[in-house]
Amino acid sequence: MNLKPVVFVLCLTPLAWLAWRAGFAGLGANPVETVNRFLGDWTLRFLLITLAATPVRLLTGWAGMVRLRRMLGLFAFAYAVLHAANYAAVEQSLIWADIWADVVKRQYITAGALTFLMLVPLAATSTKGMVKRLGGKRWKRLHQLVYLAAIGGVVHYLMMVKADLLQPLIHGGILALLLGTRAAAHLANTRSRQLFSRLFTFS
Ligand code: HEM
Repeated sequence: MNLKPVVFVLCLTPLAWLAWRAGFAGLGANPVETVNRFLGDWTLRFLLITLAATPVRLLTGWAGMVRLRRMLGLFAFAYAVLHAANYAAVEQSLIWADIWADVVKRQYITAGALTFLMLVPLAATSTKGMVKRLGGKRWKRLHQLVYLAAIGGVVHYLMMVKADLLQPLIHGGILALLLGTRAAAHLANTRSRQLFSRLFTFS
């Protein structure tokens, strides 16, 4: 079954929900902040969902999510663009001097901007053509940047909240589990390869 169209529509539902709230239910006392936080949350969620594809395959044997990984990653980037655009256009009225001063002054904004910059080359090289042009090995190495970007997203969130650390810590915990699963599988793979080559040498 081709899940892509279904997942594509599902990925758009947070935006539809936001539009519905804006049109009918209201966005609260501070709409700019509500929208910004909503888009930031979904950027990080989509990054985590993208990073879950391989652990899901390792733990269940189901590779369907791996086939959806590129689309999920591009949705993470799309939400990041909307999040950053909302900040720059609505919160800062596109006054670049103010934006730059804010990026330099507030450390959590610096972390957000650096994280965003990491996502740009990943989105730009997400096509099959770019995999070919870069070569599989280089492409894979470049795309390991997604781990750093996810860590950056959690750090940005942690630095932003002043008191209640629960939500960023939950996101950080999920990220640690996802990265831990990959690391454990990688280690097990290396060990079994070493064992195999040792057996092969002795025989
Ligand atoms: C140029 C890039 C970015 C800028 C300028 C930026 C800026 C902001 C701002 C102003 C807020 C809200 C602060 C507040 O309401 O007090 C925020 C929240 C947040 N941002 Fe970003 N951000 C950027 C990139 C990112 C990226 C790439 C991610 C995810 C990987 C991300 C995830 C979040 C999260 C999770 C929140 C908190 C949402 C919540 O409170 O529920 N941001 N960001």
